[in-house]
Amino acid sequence: MRVSVIGCGYLGAVHAAAMAKLGHEVVGVDVDATKVATLSAGDAPFYEPGLPGLLAEVRSTGRLSFTTDIAEAAGSDVHFVCVGTPQKHGEFGADLTYVDAAVASLLPHLGPGEVVVGKSTVPVGTAEAIAARVADAQPEATVLWNPEFLREGFAVQDTLHPDRIVIGAPATDAGERATAVLSQVYAIAIAEDTPVVVTDLATAQLVKAAANAFLATKISFINAMAELCEATGANVVALADAIGHDARIGRRFLNAGLGFGGGCLPKDIRAFMARAGELGADQALSFLKEVDAINMRRRVRMVDLARDVCDGSIVGRRVAVLGAAFKPDSDDVRDSPALSVAAQMGLQGATVVVTDPQALDNARRAWPDLRYAETAQQAVADADVVILATEWSEYRALDPAELGALVAHRRMVDGRNVLDPAAWRAAGWTYRALGRP
Ligand code: UDX
Repeated sequence: MRVSVIGCGYLGAVHAAAMAKLGHEVVGVDVDATKVATLSAGDAPFYEPGLPGLLAEVRSTGRLSFTTDIAEAAGSDVHFVCVGTPQKHGEFGADLTYVDAAVASLLPHLGPGEVVVGKSTVPVGTAEAIAARVADAQPEATVLWNPEFLREGFAVQDTLHPDRIVIGAPATDAGERATAVLSQVYAIAIAEDTPVVVTDLATAQLVKAAANAFLATKISFINAMAELCEATGANVVALADAIGHDARIGRRFLNAGLGFGGGCLPKDIRAFMARAGELGADQALSFLKEVDAINMRRRVRMVDLARDVCDGSIVGRRVAVLGAAFKPDSDDVRDSPALSVAAQMGLQGATVVVTDPQALDNARRAWPDLRYAETAQQAVADADVVILATEWSEYRALDPAELGALVAHRRMVDGRNVLDPAAWRAAGWTYRALGRP
């Protein structure tokens, strides 16, 4: 089938390559000429494991092209809208500028029978508004909503083999026909027995917001337990293991530590609250305020813990922060807890050196005032305290004795609860972690 993908960021670039891999003829459209040039050359514009290989593979088939010219999307059976919906400046709501612009640019090129498929995470009601605009411009085109649940770091796998496909469609014949077209696009995944949930537009938009709200709540729940563990001398890791054995609870997403960040969970729960307020249902989501607050408190607590191990003051202390990305296997630093901690410590008088295997360029752009080092070994040189802020596997595998030879003081604050306390203490380190004695 002929497919266009509008917006080639973390979501769209992977989606475009994956659709080509599934055998479709794909054009990726983005307003950023540099990104288009990079993708056209077969390179990934950001770090995502598996994406360079996938791009190379589909490039050789000739089924994937990238352009800044939306007119090249004309004639596609399906147009996927994959642009970002960041948080508005100074407000909780989602900024729909990019979605609105993408739809506006597409309207003049829409043909009869074509299907516009929204994948961006949007406040409920957005799809209906887009459908009205599309109906004005091309009455024989149909709008569907098909939220994306991919995780950065696993985006290729999650796109090719999703754990579910959600299709929001209007309850009309045209809606049914469009759903059949989209099901054909996903025929391979559907043949793999991927569950498909077909629903109305409002539910499909809410599914995404609800899923991210649940995940954020799960993380903040265990981090709230970590606060109680800190107050009682209990161990949040053992607690998570124990409650996680209950299949109704499950152990995944119960890793206590610095909390969630990134381009999705923080802004999505805020946009969800803002939208609920507009709908007069703000009480339903007031608990998300607490979820957000617990999450942000972890960052402050981390700085306090570091100050504690430095005998009460970080002024003039040399702090090494391992990790800048909001999570491992990503170069994304949007709302990164690691950088938030590094910046706070810098503002409080510490000399902070940050390192990351992939995210240094993005980190430098976001926080130019921090110091950066290429490797963990360089970052920890003469450090008074080391903070593990992002659990990259190479940091989890660090040898306490080897690292101990480089630092000024053997003090480790494990922000992700991933190191073995006994091994680090045996090598002479003062080891502290969030939610563990
Ligand atoms: C998330 C959703 O998982 C995905 O379905 C949605 O499409 C986009 O948002 P992503 O932002 O890539 O994906 O990251 P995810 O793996 O969900 O992690 C989010 C944050 O939570 C990270 O900062 C991570 O470090 C943190 N986290 C995750 C925890 O603190 N503890 C956990 O147990 C799990």
